[in-house]
Amino acid sequence: MAPGPRCRYNVGVQILDATFVAGATNYAQLPAPAFAEIAFAGRSNVGKSSLINSLVERKKLVRTSGTPGCTRAINIFRISLGGGAEFDLVDLPGYGFAKRSKGEKRGWGVLIEDFLSQRPGLRAVVVIVDVRRGVEDEDLQLLEFLDHVGVRALLVATKLDKLPASQRKLALKAVQAAAPARVFGYSSETGDGRDRLWDALLREAAIQLSPTEAVPA
Ligand code: GTP
Ligand code: MG
Repeated sequence: MAPGPRCRYNVGVQILDATFVAGATNYAQLPAPAFAEIAFAGRSNVGKSSLINSLVERKKLVRTSGTPGCTRAINIFRISLGGGAEFDLVDLPGYGFAKRSKGEKRGWGVLIEDFLSQRPGLRAVVVIVDVRRGVEDEDLQLLEFLDHVGVRALLVATKLDKLPASQRKLALKAVQAAAPARVFGYSSETGDGRDRLWDALLREAAIQLSPTEAVPA
């Protein structure tokens, strides 16, 4: 079947550069936003950092780990795409890691909330869930919070490769049924879902691939 206009993606988003800009463990330490920002949030160990690496096709731009709680700061990465678009991807610390002390949890909660509610350059937040676990209470709370502060949210159900191909469609349907946001299946292991997610991210964040070119009517 020939692809109609609704299923045309920005196939082949070309990553020219991806570099670490800054990291901070409290909001005041962060540099002022220089470009539009897209943040990545979700439970500890769900695959936030891996998703960023996969999107920008860099194996080790963002540190990943099998140990939950690896990302303890807000880290900002500057991305340049072919065509001239420049923007920042922001890796947020994970929530819901049981071994953290109450004080630590509160500190990180404040850091994430401050960022999501105060950051002027923030255009969209990618909320990530494990496709096998689906949407949990804390994810719903985050989605509600984003709605409350007026920030756009996309939901990514990642680790799709961990399910047999025959179960993926059904699992994604289940995630979508539980979520008040559009769901995108993804695998950072295989890159499955990459073009579709890039297309949605650029759209949601109103980032034009060729910012200097006039937009056709
Ligand atoms: P914290 O920073 O600790 O909150 O974790 P995170 O959400 O950034 O997760 P991270 O990207 O570090 O990934 C956690 C583990 O899951 C690592 O062992 C990754 O290799 C693995 N992982 C992440 N995404 C995928 C995926 O799509 N498929 C598979 N098979 N493994 C994945
Ligand atoms: Mg991480």
